[in-house]
Amino acid sequence: MLAVAILAAGKGTRMRSTLPKVLHKLNGKSILSRVLDTCFELNPDKVFIIVGHKNDVIQKSFENHKFANKINFVLQDPQIGTGHAIQVLSKELKTFKGKLLVLNGDVPLIESKTLKGLIKFHDKKQADASIITTTLENPFGYGRVFLKNDQIDKIIEEKDCNNDQRTNKVINSGIYCFDYKSLKNTLTKLTNNNSQKEYYITDAIFLLNKSVSYKIINSDEIKGINNRIQLSECEEIIQKKLTKIHMLNGVTFINPSSTTISEDCEIGKDVVIECNTHIRGKTKIENNCIIGPNTFIESSFIKENSIISNSSIYNSEIMENVRIGPYSHIRPESKISKNCKIGNFVETKNSYLSESVKVNHLSYVGDSSVGKFTNIGAGTITANFDGLKKHKSIIGENCLIGSNSVLIAPIKIGDSVTTGAGSILNKNVENNSLAISRVKQVNIKNWKKSNL
Ligand code: UD1
Ligand code: CA
Repeated sequence: MLAVAILAAGKGTRMRSTLPKVLHKLNGKSILSRVLDTCFELNPDKVFIIVGHKNDVIQKSFENHKFANKINFVLQDPQIGTGHAIQVLSKELKTFKGKLLVLNGDVPLIESKTLKGLIKFHDKKQADASIITTTLENPFGYGRVFLKNDQIDKIIEEKDCNNDQRTNKVINSGIYCFDYKSLKNTLTKLTNNNSQKEYYITDAIFLLNKSVSYKIINSDEIKGINNRIQLSECEEIIQKKLTKIHMLNGVTFINPSSTTISEDCEIGKDVVIECNTHIRGKTKIENNCIIGPNTFIESSFIKENSIISNSSIYNSEIMENVRIGPYSHIRPESKISKNCKIGNFVETKNSYLSESVKVNHLSYVGDSSVGKFTNIGAGTITANFDGLKKHKSIIGENCLIGSNSVLIAPIKIGDSVTTGAGSILNKNVENNSLAISRVKQVNIKNWKKSNL
């Protein structure tokens, strides 16, 4: 039997945030949900999250989690230490026999294969407790691990160390596998005789007969997050790992450290990601695209051979061989078909552009559909909002929409229509017509400027 307890009740004071520490996000996912998802990869029999500070907010954030019905929240109030958290949990584990894996809710990068290694090691050693440890060049803030005859003698918190003890670079990860029966006997014996006046789970180690160290080399995995500097360091670790994977798969990053990408992002071969490009959500980019510089793409699909520069794209589909930018804003539900060109200062929203459409300059195309080979002249606006409702503009194929046209929706423009530059149109236009609505030009000869 394997039970997992994730400690997440603390105040997280060092984050200086109204949001509970464990709900801060790393690459779009909360710190705690990362720990939780990793623990479910172990197929545990029971999962507990110890909550306290702002427990309602934390619990609510997991309402729609895919394993919501398997998560047991245990309330720790007041929050007087990690050992106290396990004391509270013990009321739920009265008849439990087996292993208790304790994870700190603020150590999010731990991988399931490392946890599996810990459990295997624990079984092999037949220990009362097995603890993931590592050596850090800068161990500041972590509990220090002291060994005696190949076993862990005790763990002393940074704040409780004397100067000599503080030079020890072997640290406690906050990840423990306990034989629960042995641990249970120590819980009542914990004291709060320390600088923080808290009951520490680490003190149980001293009380147990056999505690062993499962030493890992990759200290990135056990980085704890107590403040926003550590939060950004974890984000950097994730980013470095992701860009490395993509580079090995055939993606060029001109300047990886200026780029951020999401874990759910798929990128094809020979894609070039230029500087300062950010790809979020479930985005797929096919082969041979050039993305960036200065581009933001969220939850979108970009087909092969497209070039996107200095632009933002949200929840949209871009087909093959499309040019977007610089400075285009492709808002949700835009579908841009193959060979289209969307130019500078053009905004699209909830619109379907058929193949080879050109919207090259300074336009707004919203709630519209545009037929193939149509050219939308500079400054054209689909006026889709009447103050109450949004309406559709339907523009046919092979049209030439003159510069600075305003198409007042709802409106239907047929195929092969030309509209005069500067026209304001609010009536449908039949196929093959010229629609023009502007004041005729008047030239007054010999006009003299008044002498003011
Ligand atoms: C803890 C360990 C330290 C280890 C470090 C690794 C203790 C005493 N110290 O220190 O040895 O090196 O983690 O990152 O355990 N929590 C509760 N209830 C409480 C207090 C804390 O659930 O009453 C939770 C917190 O929300 C947090 C976790 O326990 O997720 C660790 O608490 P924190 O205060 O961050 O401990 P550290 O000082 O980091
Ligand atoms: Ca911590």
